[in-house]
Amino acid sequence: MDILDLMKKRRSIRKYQDRQIDRKDLEKIIEAGLYAPNAGGGQRARIIAVHNRALTAQIGRLNLARFDRSRLAGGYVSAEQPSNIDDPTIKNGFYGAPAVCIIFGARNFLYSVPDAFCCAENMVLEAAHLGIASCIVARGEETFDNEAGAALLKKWGIPDTETARCFVILGYCDGRYPQVKPRKEDRFMIID
Ligand SMILES: Cc1cc2nc3c(=O)[nH]c(=O)nc-3n(C[C@H](O)[C@H](O)[C@H](O)COP(=O)(O)O)c2cc1C
Repeated sequence: MDILDLMKKRRSIRKYQDRQIDRKDLEKIIEAGLYAPNAGGGQRARIIAVHNRALTAQIGRLNLARFDRSRLAGGYVSAEQPSNIDDPTIKNGFYGAPAVCIIFGARNFLYSVPDAFCCAENMVLEAAHLGIASCIVARGEETFDNEAGAALLKKWGIPDTETARCFVILGYCDGRYPQVKPRKEDRFMIID
């Protein structure tokens, strides 16, 4: 598929089947993340992939534990694929996805957030290319800022100098895959 068509087709999915993704596909998605543009060519972002349904759900609950609804700006994210903002009854930040990639970056590096999201973008595009549904999820630092989260980081050998910047959840879309979303107008200008 043409790359621009793929970009348009990719949507954030928040309804997942139970079916796990294949390890080979997960490895390709990780590889796409590792080839993302990165500040200064430093290749600093680190990816931990959780290919385990129960552990993904556990981290997804931690992701939402400190979600502060009082600071929401209003409006809805998606009627077809409701987010935690849209539906307060959703109790898992990973929406039942069977796998998640956690992208870590240095706490004190100015560009570790953009580095992580560049990785995430490459990963969701590769996932779409493979027919795998995905969604980028935020609140990396808060997710592990608790006893259970800290224990996982220790187990995985993540140094204190690094923190989770974002997540890419992965799985297969349950139900109808959303259509291409129209773009708002007047968002660009070409100067000759
Ligand atoms: C920086 C960033 C943070 C995001 N965080 C979340 C999140 O925490 N939870 C979620 O459900 N979606 C999250 N998303 C997905 C967006 O809600 C989604 O991309 C947006 O609504 C546009 O929909 P689309 O991806 O289907 O085109 C995030 C996306 C970006 C780029």
